Amino acid sequence: MTTQRENDILTRVGPGTPMGELMRRYWIPAAMSSELKIDGDPVRLQILCEKLIAFRDTDGRVGIMDHRCPHRCASLFFGRVEEGGIRCVYHGWKFDAEGNCVDMANVPAHQDFKHKVHAKAYKTFERNGVVWVYMGDQGENGAKVPPMPDIPATLRPAEDMKIWASQRECNWLQGLEGELDTSHLGILHLGQAHKGSDFLQETHKYATGNRTPDYALADTDVGCMYGAYRPAEEDSLYWRVGHFAMPFWAMMPILPIERCVLARAYVPMDDTHTMIMIWGDKRGNPRTTDSNGGDFIVGYTHNPQFHENTTDWYGRFRLKANLRNDYFIDREVQRTQSPSGIDGVQVQDDAVTTSMGGIVDRTFEHLGPSDQMITKVRRRLIAAATALEKDATAPPGADRPDAYANIRSGNYVSPGDPADWERVYWEKVAWARSILDPVPAKAAE
Ligand code: FES
Ligand SMILES: [Fe+2]
Repeated sequence: MTTQRENDILTRVGPGTPMGELMRRYWIPAAMSSELKIDGDPVRLQILCEKLIAFRDTDGRVGIMDHRCPHRCASLFFGRVEEGGIRCVYHGWKFDAEGNCVDMANVPAHQDFKHKVHAKAYKTFERNGVVWVYMGDQGENGAKVPPMPDIPATLRPAEDMKIWASQRECNWLQGLEGELDTSHLGILHLGQAHKGSDFLQETHKYATGNRTPDYALADTDVGCMYGAYRPAEEDSLYWRVGHFAMPFWAMMPILPIERCVLARAYVPMDDTHTMIMIWGDKRGNPRTTDSNGGDFIVGYTHNPQFHENTTDWYGRFRLKANLRNDYFIDREVQRTQSPSGIDGVQVQDDAVTTSMGGIVDRTFEHLGPSDQMITKVRRRLIAAATALEKDATAPPGADRPDAYANIRSGNYVSPGDPADWERVYWEKVAWARSILDPVPAKAAE
């Protein structure tokens, strides 16, 4: 059972909390590159309970910093992005993308002290259409900013990927746990699916044919993984292997392993709001761009409807379906055609995880065999956060970018003994990488 104390460790991410400090040891996806135009409007971001401002300067560099001007704390959101920096509207102090004060419009030249003033700016990195931020020690205290992690989906050229984001009104961990809880696929999403369709034959035949898989678990260098297995054909098993990677990454086995290049980051905005950043390779999964099996599996659609982004702290990537409109549940559809009566896989996941409350009370739960991965991930997170807090132990993978390169999810059919699953899985990964990795993006078309 998860105690209240453990739940607090797992869910609180503000500065100074054990989990907040753990997350600040990793690079964090923060914004879409397309949100930030050269000398365009600054954008409000909220990450790990910190209110930040992001902008792109005249040279294309991205600045992410505390939204409060270091003079007298007026919000830099109202500032003007101009010639190499952002100028605060109140007294005209100007900061470059690194946070250096480069002008003090209201201070006489002989009293200028701009070289002593810095906005609280964080290191940023832009990769394939996404802006990342590192919110840990920026190097002032001798700590090194680590290299970016080699998460395969994030290394793909942006044109090969569908990259999108969705905000969820609940704590980051209950969102992440939904990705690691593979048994709900055949119930919430595919509960009454028509078994004869081509789509199911191709992708989910075994998962819907047997909704009660067994599980095998293992640690990895950067987190842990599960293999959910059930009989496939005679003398073979159908495996779905998915990963948790520190600190908030999930890779789900929704495709055959040789076509599965995807990742999801559950980035905490604060303790009760999460920005889910999602990468999927369009070449491996043509259905990432259309409405999938919705024609014959009621509710199994992948085109959620969004509000236009607004400029407020919670204004980005909001779904039209939400808690206040009951996710547009259709009770008649629920009675007759789909278990949830809610349209859209993402929306169904939103509905169940936000319905638990902003932060779920984990002392109220009764976990079953299908929750083994969830328990393992909680233990791993608590151990890493506690070891960092007590002994300054470097968290798994934080300074090992290469350790993420082998983290591949996917499904496959394999003969053999479940006890031997790890060896078989790593062989499958090596084989999948020989197909996926060396092919230059363009040559694969
Ligand atoms: S508060 Fe920003 S310049 Fe004074
Ligand atoms: Fe789901």
